[in-house]
Amino acid sequence: MINVSINTQTVLAGVSIGLVVYYVIKRMRYRLPPGPRCIPVIGNYSVYTSLEIHKKAVELSKNYGPVLSLSFGPQTWIILNNIDVVLEAMVKRKADFAGRPKFASGDLFTEGGKDIAFSTYSPTWKLHRKIAGKALRHYLQGNLLENMIQDNMNKFLDKMAEEKEPFCAKDYIDLMVFHQLYTICFGEKRAVEDPEVKGLLKLDEDLLNDLGSGVLEDAFPYFKDIFPTAKWKKLVSKIEELYAILRAKFKEHMDTFEPGINRDFTDSLLIARQEAENEGDEAALEKLDDTHLVQTISDIFFAGVDTTRMTMDWFVYFMTKHPEIQSKCQEEIDRVVGSGIPSMKNRNDFDLTEACLFETLRMGNVAGLGVPHMTICDSQVGGYDIPKGTTVMINHWALHHDPKYWKDHESFDPYRYLDENGKMKPTRPDSWLPFSAGRRVCLGENVAKPELLLMCANILQRFEIRLPDGVKANPEYKMMGFGLELPSEYKVIVKERAKNR
Ligand code: HEM
Repeated sequence: MINVSINTQTVLAGVSIGLVVYYVIKRMRYRLPPGPRCIPVIGNYSVYTSLEIHKKAVELSKNYGPVLSLSFGPQTWIILNNIDVVLEAMVKRKADFAGRPKFASGDLFTEGGKDIAFSTYSPTWKLHRKIAGKALRHYLQGNLLENMIQDNMNKFLDKMAEEKEPFCAKDYIDLMVFHQLYTICFGEKRAVEDPEVKGLLKLDEDLLNDLGSGVLEDAFPYFKDIFPTAKWKKLVSKIEELYAILRAKFKEHMDTFEPGINRDFTDSLLIARQEAENEGDEAALEKLDDTHLVQTISDIFFAGVDTTRMTMDWFVYFMTKHPEIQSKCQEEIDRVVGSGIPSMKNRNDFDLTEACLFETLRMGNVAGLGVPHMTICDSQVGGYDIPKGTTVMINHWALHHDPKYWKDHESFDPYRYLDENGKMKPTRPDSWLPFSAGRRVCLGENVAKPELLLMCANILQRFEIRLPDGVKANPEYKMMGFGLELPSEYKVIVKERAKNR
């Protein structure tokens, strides 16, 4: 017994001394970014478990500067809190910061990093990003995108019009966006009540709630092998359920695939694989196995669905909160399209509506702290050294609320994007970066922007949306973890505008 205790003490002392020596050597070799003191091994627990980590990081950066170091368990995280350091890292030294860290829940969700968003900077990531980018560009041709949006939206707008009592607009908007991404990925247009799409939305929300509040296994990965938490076990079963659906959709596509016919995003991936086969490109074929392709579909679906639906939830929230701005957008939409349908060709004339969307993207923090980056070599930012293998995050909230760039940053003010003639200014504001920048810039940005704008224009063209009489706009945000913010639940009333035009 005594021997065991001595051995344990010796081992613990040895490990502690080792960690201290490692830490001292590392600090001497590098000029590392500063951050608050923390409990060894546990790290800055009160910061990383806070749902308001993005705001805490801004407070801390007032003392420590924009390049902030935090300890997440035994790992070091660097959080970038202003646009200068973000652009220096992601654009000036783009390849250095283009890696992705491995973490337990990410690995579980992506079958070991076989997707695009969580896989590190590598030839495999490059190939999949190229193929997925080409497949998405397909939707920007002709009127493919606007037809799809029209078909999917009308079903839901008709349902919303039937609501005679105050209702939660989010319930319709989330499903509307889900159906849209479903059509992009799998070609099919499903009925409003379709159980498969509803089931996918439920799975997505469950996963988001669980992952947003964090899992212990991400800070201490060995827990999952020795003593997995109940939350981890639940995650494993939900993820299996999800991939069973996606794999079945993929198989259906393989079974019915006809060379030369491109029905949807999944077919575009199968076409890319067939091209590699025809060219005898063995290196590419190895990377285009079924697992990788299903993972790419999952990325487009979930990276696209959550950010888009949350942006639309915020847009409706801001329009309800600012009825005078809503009416001005409606005047603009009526002037541009009359009794027609908002389309891609009107895009450049929806200035105020687009400005409202840009302001929504600034204030609704749907990307939170973004997808974590990792340095793939020793690098620098803001005058500090960032060793290879360090996790680096962009605090989008800090950029979008930096008082140096945004006057009255807490106010929803679309006019900041417009010139004196009411046209969108030709350049984006300096500290506006909802889609990130550099090698890992959002792959869906060019689809997301017109898709969102057309959805906003369609909703406002059809309805006047307002709060029930006597109800004030709820100012509270619902924090989802890792800086992600959603409007808290509220009910609206919609009134058809068709007769007004
Ligand atoms: C409001 C809409 C959206 C916002 C605000 C948004 C924002 C972002 C952000 C911040 C990132 C992380 C970039 C980084 O690592 O620095 C990202 C990555 C990504 N987004 Fe989006 N996104 C949106 C819509 C979409 C859509 C519609 C799609 C697909 C159809 C999409 C696909 C992706 C993919 C695949 C990545 C991973 C890129 C990579 O790691 O190489 N996103 N997005």
